[in-house]
Amino acid sequence: MNGIFMNNEVETEKPKDSMMEKIASLCKRRGFIYPASEIYGGFANAFDYGPLGAQMKKNIKDEWWKRFVSQRADIVGLDSAIIQNPKVWEASGHLSSFSDPLVECKKCHQRFRADHIQEARDRMGGMANDWLTASKEDKAMFNCPLGGMHEFTEAKDFNLMFKTFIGVTEDSVSTAYLRPETAQGIFINFQNVLQSSRVKLPFGIAQIGKAFRNEITPGNFIFRTREFEQAEVEFFVGPDKEESDKWYRAWIEAIEGFYTDLGIKKENLHTREHAKDELSHYSSGTSDIEYDFPFGTSELAGIAQRTDYDLKQHTEHSGADLRYFDEEKGEKFIPYVVEPSMGVDRAMLAFMVDAYDESDGTDGRASGEITLRLSPKLAPIKVGVFPLIKKEGLPEIAQKIFTDLRQNGVDAFYDESGSVGRRYRRQDEIGTPWCITVDFDTLQDKTVTLRDRDTMEQARIKIEDLGALIKGKLS
Ligand code: GAP
Repeated sequence: MNGIFMNNEVETEKPKDSMMEKIASLCKRRGFIYPASEIYGGFANAFDYGPLGAQMKKNIKDEWWKRFVSQRADIVGLDSAIIQNPKVWEASGHLSSFSDPLVECKKCHQRFRADHIQEARDRMGGMANDWLTASKEDKAMFNCPLGGMHEFTEAKDFNLMFKTFIGVTEDSVSTAYLRPETAQGIFINFQNVLQSSRVKLPFGIAQIGKAFRNEITPGNFIFRTREFEQAEVEFFVGPDKEESDKWYRAWIEAIEGFYTDLGIKKENLHTREHAKDELSHYSSGTSDIEYDFPFGTSELAGIAQRTDYDLKQHTEHSGADLRYFDEEKGEKFIPYVVEPSMGVDRAMLAFMVDAYDESDGTDGRASGEITLRLSPKLAPIKVGVFPLIKKEGLPEIAQKIFTDLRQNGVDAFYDESGSVGRRYRRQDEIGTPWCITVDFDTLQDKTVTLRDRDTMEQARIKIEDLGALIKGKLS
């Protein structure tokens, strides 16, 4: 079997910290994220989102959509096809430029990114002299599993787009591609949106959806996978650098705010401007929002100034008039675009890492107990509802509270097994911000205890006030 079926692909970015393993283990155990195709031996670097993960990922996308589409008058949404006419990728430059240079070992036929090999060589001072002191990871890049050292070919460009075939024949005429970014679906619908929505500059078109890249070095759990989700806005502005710069800065701030308002600690986020030689083929300026992941500081989102590159390319290749008509000025022109783009899966990983808190035993919890301090907006379950014991009418009252909350759109979870302390811990571990316990006092005064995940404080609340209280806390 070759590399994609077994987890034997060469990963240059293996977790250097057991924190990633702890997160992956929690995700599997509690139903956030599972390795894909597990019953068939797995499928390297592919993941399935379980019940809690699917809900949390949806919450991230909902928050993004609410903030950047529903709550703004200047941005509209779109949901375009994943497989488009291949000419789209010719025009966008992805067919010619979306590639990584690769080298192949002539003996074992494994492929590696040429730049990673070169970086390892540089770190090893040109190989020969520093082999003894080189890191395990660097050495591993040169050791061939068939014995001795790899014998590398010259570097060749390897396109990252996934190919597929449309219809029954598998030839060049029927070749199509899975989109490597959601952005192009927006550019090719620019005129459709203009005509149907009558939007005026500056305005944005937003899209959330799957993207696919045949990454050479996927890894670090859901950080870099071949199938992932993006949330992107193409924000169209007047065609001048000053205007584009202004919106570029505003979008950097808006995207940072998205993460910090949803719980990421400010000190773990950094904005890094790309050097000229790092820029994508379409960009005149890009800043990455980076996060301090356990395996190193890495890109979480990117904000790029794409100028008029894409609309111009599509104008040239399709012949369509993709100009904007400015009624006030009586002029037609191709606008510039600023693009904030984020990976939803990467955001999910950062939110999990940032929220993960293992007690050292000095905070009123037992040593090793995990609390996932997720923002209530992202937590997959908002409220755990428990009867203190399984008799005396307490389960019936708790069930009614649970059902009422669910019917009012609050994701609640009913649990009556084990001690209340264990039930609290189970909810803490999955990030549930509040737990409600129905006890004997409830029978007398129709109140329950509401326990806070982070402070572990408990307050008595009237049952009739619960719905409004929880909804208020969530809004
Ligand atoms: N439309 C612009 C664009 O696609 P990008 O920097 O290549 O730019 C944007 O990707 C975001 O998509 C990244 O910041 C990252 O969060 C996410 N992303 C890119 N490749 C990814 C992968 N292989 N796995 C998971 N997320 C990825």
